[in-house]
Amino acid sequence: MSSETVLSVHDLKLYYRTRKGIVKALDDVNFDLKKEDVLAVVGESGCGKSTLARALVRVLPRNIHTYEGEIILNGRNVMDLDEETFRREIRWRKISIVFQGAMNSFNPVYRIGYQVAEPLIIHDHVEKKKAIEKARQLMELMGMPSAFAERYPFELSGGMKQRAAIAMALITNPEIVILDEPTSALDVLTQANIINLLKRIKNEFRLSYIFITHDLGLASELANRVAVIYAGKMVELSSADVFYTEPKHPYSKGLLLSVPTLRTDRKPEFISGAPPSLIDPPSGCKFHPRCRFAWSKCSAEEPAMFKVGEDHFVRCWLYGDGR
Ligand SMILES: Nc1ncnc2c1ncn2[C@@H]1O[C@H](COP(=O)(O)OP(=O)(O)OP(=O)(O)O)[C@@H](O)[C@H]1O
Ligand code: SF4
Ligand SMILES: [Mg+2]
Repeated sequence: MSSETVLSVHDLKLYYRTRKGIVKALDDVNFDLKKEDVLAVVGESGCGKSTLARALVRVLPRNIHTYEGEIILNGRNVMDLDEETFRREIRWRKISIVFQGAMNSFNPVYRIGYQVAEPLIIHDHVEKKKAIEKARQLMELMGMPSAFAERYPFELSGGMKQRAAIAMALITNPEIVILDEPTSALDVLTQANIINLLKRIKNEFRLSYIFITHDLGLASELANRVAVIYAGKMVELSSADVFYTEPKHPYSKGLLLSVPTLRTDRKPEFISGAPPSLIDPPSGCKFHPRCRFAWSKCSAEEPAMFKVGEDHFVRCWLYGDGR
């Protein structure tokens, strides 16, 4: 594994404006991504995973309240770029994305091959025939018969459409690919096939992935780093090896205990309570109403990310000063 850092994210925030108030969907997120790293981003529904993806590729809804922080890509803060430069040089070219539910977003009236080729035709002005040829090659690499390029979306299974969506994200030769729940809603065999293909492609093209998933088992198949998000905040950042054997944050421990396992008799245990409102979250540590270790300090003050080991950070007072 290379140690070259391709992406450094500092204090990234993305808040939405709503009639009920400001939704702090992503708050002060910090992490580094090295070349060929796979960073799994995990957490319950609504914790801000897709918001992080959208913030990184700057695909934002209209009701943005705050969008700030630094996104340093190969040493350059791309937050400083105007929209036109970002579109021309960064989105798809350097960081591409398979959006959540991408397989259902194909336009029903165009053939799949053309749609996979579209980023090349539109962004790089590559001639249509050439672009579709490259789309075919990538679709084959993703385990699709190249003749499928001539098909319309309704003629493909979910698994095939998702393979096409991944081929589309690869077509502009990006360095980083964000995969937002790339295999949810697919059967387990198709999931396993796609994960294996993603592994192979990552090694072949020396890509880095940000792999968003609520499935910790799947994350363990692909990731060498894990980031846990709770209520818009990163609460643990660790190597996958350490995370799966010695998680530190009480929420991470709870998440891992909730995964069913076939190899032992252990029954899954669920974290009681529900994630908090992002408009009016609890004071101090946002996890304190659900945490069995909570004490007075937890509701009074928000913990920082404390370093607990080599490249291992935890947002919890159990690991901070002054217990
Ligand atoms: N445009 C928007 N305006 C207001 N609130 C939004 C908007 N988009 C998302 N949210 C809210 O922001 C929070 C984070 O949403 P996000 O889609 O990032 O979650 P997620 O972790 O990807 O969830 P899931 O696992 O269900 O995909 C949620 O509370 C969601 O309701
Ligand atoms: S800071 Fe306190 S409430 Fe929050 S996770 Fe740690 S022990 Fe639990
Ligand atoms: Mg999401």
